[in-house]
Amino acid sequence: MQNTLELGVNIDHIINIRQARFTPYPDIIEAVQRVEKAGADAITLHLREDRRHIQDADVYRVRKHCTTRMNLEMAATDEMTNIALDVMPRDCCIVPEKREELTTEGGLDVIGQFERIKKVTQRLVAENIKVSLFIEPNIEHIARVSEIGAPVIELHTGTYANLVGDEKQRELERIQLASEFAVEQGLQVNAGHGLDDQNTMAIAQIPQIRELNIGHYLIARAVFVGLEQAIKEMQQIMQQARL
Ligand code: PXP
Repeated sequence: MQNTLELGVNIDHIINIRQARFTPYPDIIEAVQRVEKAGADAITLHLREDRRHIQDADVYRVRKHCTTRMNLEMAATDEMTNIALDVMPRDCCIVPEKREELTTEGGLDVIGQFERIKKVTQRLVAENIKVSLFIEPNIEHIARVSEIGAPVIELHTGTYANLVGDEKQRELERIQLASEFAVEQGLQVNAGHGLDDQNTMAIAQIPQIRELNIGHYLIARAVFVGLEQAIKEMQQIMQQARL
């Protein structure tokens, strides 16, 4: 398997620690620098509407200091779109957002929210921001993405990550089929959510997938081995998957 698989590291959980005490540390720029030094391909961060971790100022600082690729996750709201258009990250990943959720739960409703998602996507695409839609591995949903005008999808792997046994295998097959279908539609396919040292290999082996976005596991692992080592271990899994 030849094609490369990139790693975007989601740094939200580093900032969760800072926000737990409102201290100046851990510093977000040090996080960006260490993630980039470890060889990650992109810095992913989610400016949530409730600002529970990443703050507006963080987004601007990361934009200034990021030397790889900044991937801003955001809800499909006018407020977030205006911020994104001011910050101008290379990539934006549009995600669904509920205030009470622990983390992003499932993909966008690209059918029910079609017009809203299309409006936000088109405003970003018009300024050359590469937009990705975080969606379920669902053919019906993927079929609507081209009409919305996003060039990329990020497949939600959280369900796969949480299942066991035959159900997990069936969800993996859904992700494989969805990836093939999306590429036939001319879309770039990324994936993420809930990926760890045990479940990433099977996802990374899907040849159509171009990028994984991983946060929680890497930051948890970093507590014991350091951020750079945690990222290197994950990259080894990803490289092995593509041998
Ligand atoms: N991709 C998207 C769109 C997400 O919202 C998140 C979580 O913020 C991730 C990837 C990373 O998920 P995790 O933290 O479970 O690795």
